[in-house]
Amino acid sequence: MKELIKQWHGESVVISFHQPTGTWIFIAIHSTVLGRAVGGCRMREYESPEDGLLDAMRLAEGMTYKWAAAGMEFGGGKSVLGVTGHLDYPNRADVLRRLGRLIDSLCGAYSTGEDLGTTPEDMAIVAEETQWVHGIHPGARAVDPGPYTALGVFVGIRAAVSHVFGSEDLTGRTVVIQGVGDVGEPLARRLLAAGAEVIVCDLDEGLARRVSSELDVEAVVPHLVYARMCDVFAPCAVGATLNGDTIPQLQCRIVAGAANNQLAEPRDADRLRARGILYAPDYVINAGGAIALPSLDSGMVTNEQVEERIQGIEPRLLEIFAEASRNDESPLYAAQRMAERILARKRGAQRPPRES
Ligand code: PHE
Repeated sequence: MKELIKQWHGESVVISFHQPTGTWIFIAIHSTVLGRAVGGCRMREYESPEDGLLDAMRLAEGMTYKWAAAGMEFGGGKSVLGVTGHLDYPNRADVLRRLGRLIDSLCGAYSTGEDLGTTPEDMAIVAEETQWVHGIHPGARAVDPGPYTALGVFVGIRAAVSHVFGSEDLTGRTVVIQGVGDVGEPLARRLLAAGAEVIVCDLDEGLARRVSSELDVEAVVPHLVYARMCDVFAPCAVGATLNGDTIPQLQCRIVAGAANNQLAEPRDADRLRARGILYAPDYVINAGGAIALPSLDSGMVTNEQVEERIQGIEPRLLEIFAEASRNDESPLYAAQRMAERILARKRGAQRPPRES
């Protein structure tokens, strides 16, 4: 872990180990250039604590870019709970409270919210220990960012379809959704309502079966998901599902989904391009939940205004796709330049004036 931290370009890492459950708790703060760090809390099993730490660091970095690309004044951070198996109550609550106290000790340098593996109920428990949790409104269930992320991905898919096919009409377009959890399922519903054909897939067989029968759509088994012929492949589960092994299998024109860190390595963006597949940069298309949570907390905007802001993902992606086409490059690079420009401008503004 020492080596991972030394090599990292982020700002800080906070580590705790919850002995009774064997859970590793990581909080990674990648950059506070744009503001204090905000990012969700992920709970999952990892092969080793190092893998959990690495995930926290990569996800925190992704948040830095996500906030910059979304034009919001927050920094990149993320927390990870590396559990040793499914964690149930009361142990689950103990771990969440420990995380809450740890976050509280940072006095606002990092605040959290829901992410893969955690629920609104989990966030309500964290909020018993600290005010630094997003989506908590007195008397109401904690806000689930999933449907907001799904809205952003939906308009992002429309942007990609319009760039590739010359019309944003989704009628008859086939979309394969990898992962039908908090984001994948509401995304499937929106796509169906817009006339698209949807095919679902999930590692959780029971979940895949339930969603496929409820929505009356086909389910594909996980090992065949990449090779399924479609217009859009939408990764909405864990990261790194696009890599040197899976990209050659793809039978789609577009990759546009909700997962964070979809590419195993940056050159996978070039691999996708070499196969003629348009890639919607993950941190641009999946920013809906991030845009929604702190905005709704502020109490200054209505739900409609938040949705309008999320719809801004569509023109932003169209611009990125157009720039990438002009430069003959993957949209990932155009998005990166856009985010870097915003970060550089802020860094410049923060530098103390030079002495004369
Ligand atoms: N976890 C989601 C994301 O990665 C939503 C979220 C954003 C949650 C910011 C908390 C804070 O975008």
